[in-house]
Amino acid sequence: MVNHSSDSGPDAGIRTDVLVIGGGAAGLSLALRIADKAKVTILSKSSLKQGSTYYAQGGIAAVLDSQDSLQSHVEDTLKAGAGLCHRDIVEYTVNRGRESIEWLIGQGVGFSTDGAAYHLTKEGGHSHRRVIHAADATGKAVFESLADKALKHPNIKFITNSVAVDLLTGVKSGNPELGCMGAYVLEEDSGRILTLYARFTVLATGGASKVYLYTTNPDSASGDGIAMAWRAGCRVGNMEFNQFHPTCLYHPQDRNFLISEALRGEGALLKLPDGTRFMPDYHELAELAPRDIVARAIDAEMKKTGCDCVFLDITHKPAEFIRTHFPNIHDRCLKLGIDICTQAIPVVPAAHYSCGGVIVDIKGQTDIPNLYAIGETSFTGLHGANRIASNSLLECFVFAFSAAEDIEGKLGNVAMPPLLPDWDDSQVTDSDEDVIISHNWDEIRRFMWDYVGIVRTSKRLRRARSRIKLLQQEIQEYYSNYRISTPLLELRNLAMVAELIIESAISRQESRGLHYSLDFPELSPVAEDTILLPPLYPELSDEYRQ
Ligand code: FAD
Ligand code: SIN
Repeated sequence: MVNHSSDSGPDAGIRTDVLVIGGGAAGLSLALRIADKAKVTILSKSSLKQGSTYYAQGGIAAVLDSQDSLQSHVEDTLKAGAGLCHRDIVEYTVNRGRESIEWLIGQGVGFSTDGAAYHLTKEGGHSHRRVIHAADATGKAVFESLADKALKHPNIKFITNSVAVDLLTGVKSGNPELGCMGAYVLEEDSGRILTLYARFTVLATGGASKVYLYTTNPDSASGDGIAMAWRAGCRVGNMEFNQFHPTCLYHPQDRNFLISEALRGEGALLKLPDGTRFMPDYHELAELAPRDIVARAIDAEMKKTGCDCVFLDITHKPAEFIRTHFPNIHDRCLKLGIDICTQAIPVVPAAHYSCGGVIVDIKGQTDIPNLYAIGETSFTGLHGANRIASNSLLECFVFAFSAAEDIEGKLGNVAMPPLLPDWDDSQVTDSDEDVIISHNWDEIRRFMWDYVGIVRTSKRLRRARSRIKLLQQEIQEYYSNYRISTPLLELRNLAMVAELIIESAISRQESRGLHYSLDFPELSPVAEDTILLPPLYPELSDEYRQ
């Protein structure tokens, strides 16, 4: 039996009102919104910066210009989402854009200005300039302001370098009404498993794009929240819609670095190695078509011509403009020997964003009482079959606020959970074959890229399904026999999420948005979400399903 470190006595675990798993835009915002009313604990694996939020570049979509309208933002989102966005959720989110930005400004985020007004940039699929940003490092500016406020708040406690392993729920003990009661957590430095008890638990763990070999995402994006929620009994939705960003830097020393869509918004052009433009052949909006179309066009051109990458060219703009608007991208490329003021940038598509996730309602509430999911880990219905640029951060803030409000309303009714059995690792030993973990990681990420990528076929999806089933067995056996570590936990979660993506992709027999199948190239007349039911889906009374 593992000893627990404890705030309130031995074996009683750590107790908090609200446990927020994840310290990105979604988790920090929720924590700040509720912290005056409740004690909050924010958990993050590795350092706090290791989420996608810190790396976000382009900005946040919101209607802030008098020439723009809420209706137009709604319509652009619906159009990009290819018939699968939930209109009520789109309207709810878009209507709260200005409030979210004003709140961020109040937290000290320094957005870029253009004279007296905030500068708004343009990105693919948006018919107006509506993306507010902090040069080309918006995520860093947002993260630093929110983290600074949260670190100073007396009611917010941080536990870093600690990985949530699984949720504590009543489902497994036959009392689903108890809902979620916290989580088991691996302390990375000591290897101990802590029990964190909470009245409310919030999954804010980000996306799952690390399941693909090439991605713009940091290592933390292993889909932990989706996998934990699924194992605990939550439904997941639309997992087949993983977004590939068209322009990730193609350079042997830097394969993860994003080249923001805002470059295309400010006039950058996509070209083949011989300098020919190709996007006008694919869509009337050319370089500013929605992401699924641009990524597929690049993929098709690379296959047709055999080139390793295409090029993004902004050299026709004045050097001063480029350096002012894109200082981060300019400096990073320059370090690799590419001067973007005079040279086109080599780019390829890479996995970028999980449109699907844990199914939640308008308050971020999952299928399990007292368990919320917000940000990229959730499936709200906002993005449909393809997220439009810069709606993701907006979704993080809007749903963090609504979940915080819902939790606040329930604080008086939900008691601290009863004590549960400690984590038992008396039957496991230290592994002497860690090579299995790294081998399986590589194998999953490679076959997901090759078989479940930008363009899919039924044969390749079936091949991926048989590979993942074998790997799942092997990983489960390994998990049962050996002491857990962060790489093993992430592998277990990645494999789970890969399986959910493959099953969802197999069940969608059409081509829509980000899911493109050579065997089913047509759009089905009926637009339906892909909802997967977990083995442990709890039987709850209507009272709990509200
Ligand atoms: P994250 O910011 O990813 O945070 C997840 C947190 O969860 C991290 O703290 C992580 O450590 C923690 N965590 C995960 N698993 C566990 C676990 N098991 N235990 C404990 N902690 C855990 N969107 C836009 O709208 N505009 C943009 O300009 C934009 N640019 C982007 C650029 C890049 C390079 C990338 C990668 C994404 C971009 N996106 C953009 C998408 C957007 O940044 C993300 O969707 C958003 O930041 C997700 O925020 P989040 O709070 O949900 O998760
Ligand atoms: C980008 O800057 O291109 C990323 C924007 C986004 O993912 O919304």
